[in-house]
Amino acid sequence: MSKGKILVTGGTGYIGSHTAVELINSGYDVVIIDDLSNSSADVVDGIERITGVRPAFVEGSCANPHVVAKLFAEHPGINAIINFAASKAVGESVKKPLLYYRNNLNILINLLEQMAPNGVKGIVFSSSCTVYGEPDINPVTEQSPIKKATSPYGNTKQIAEEIITDAIASGEPIKSVILRYFNPIGSHPSAEIGELPNGVPQNLIPYLTQTAIGLREKLSIFGNDYNTPDGTCIRDYIDIIDLARAHVKAVERLLDPSTPQIEIFNIGTGNGLSVKQLVDTFEEATGVKVPHVYADRRQGDIEQVWADPALANNVLGWKAETPLAETLKNAWRWQLRLRERGIM
Ligand code: WQD
Repeated sequence: MSKGKILVTGGTGYIGSHTAVELINSGYDVVIIDDLSNSSADVVDGIERITGVRPAFVEGSCANPHVVAKLFAEHPGINAIINFAASKAVGESVKKPLLYYRNNLNILINLLEQMAPNGVKGIVFSSSCTVYGEPDINPVTEQSPIKKATSPYGNTKQIAEEIITDAIASGEPIKSVILRYFNPIGSHPSAEIGELPNGVPQNLIPYLTQTAIGLREKLSIFGNDYNTPDGTCIRDYIDIIDLARAHVKAVERLLDPSTPQIEIFNIGTGNGLSVKQLVDTFEEATGVKVPHVYADRRQGDIEQVWADPALANNVLGWKAETPLAETLKNAWRWQLRLRERGIM
């Protein structure tokens, strides 16, 4: 007996695919839509290999209202949406702000418009700790001040939260759970799916594992003169499976008629870790050296940000559980699998 039908937009992406696996494992039917601009349809095969279930897959962009209307017509009975679909490269968003505002906000608005007419109860929105900017105090709670976004990408997340809030305040008969992620890392333990960025990775872990396997000459640690214990930036790195499981909990909240119309949760471990500590932990966990040098600071980087996850722990009933060493071993296993398959 299915617990419900969930639409996962951006579901062949890094976080979307891992969430699709956890939803299927928890008894939900999953429909994926993805424009494949930053992922491959092969990911659907990986989801099937892990779960034994092949989710329905539609190739298309939710930025096109006709695509969204057709999707709901062809897949009736969707109970909730998890919206991952978005352009998400911080640096690119500075160069192409109009693309980011058009794509990310049209996707959300097109989905919101189709919810009530199709009886969709709620939407989980993929937000980000970037809404906090450089916090005055760490750890950040959901009540920490929202700072002016430092990139158009981050601004699309802030504006999206406001759009959802205003839509619900206007009387739309829908609910929302907004999840503010910290730094997702790692891959599925099976190494059937994982993080596969196009081109030169911007994020730390894929660049680190590509360096460890010899695809990159060295890892540049962007800045060791920050006001932190070892001079490198501090982040809250959260295992991708733990993050995926937070979305299952969020769907359960949405489908429970007794919960509030809109809730916001920080999804992090509550532990701040420096870049150097991450490199050291990777080397200890895998026995593999990561050639690295200290380089100049990267423009736009936050010095330190990590979560107070108490609300998610106590209200959502979710807690990060995966030890960091296991997460990093999974990331390494994925990099090795990519080489075995000749993908990189
Ligand atoms: C982490 C740390 C870098 C690469 C981004 C987005 C954020 C969210 C998560 C979507 C920083 C350092 C990195 C490298 C390095 N994405 N670093 N050398 O910037 O914290 O957050 O991803 O929601 O919105 O901004 O993640 O992995 O790029 O960087 O030293 O080659 O690693 O300086 O301190 P970030 P990141």
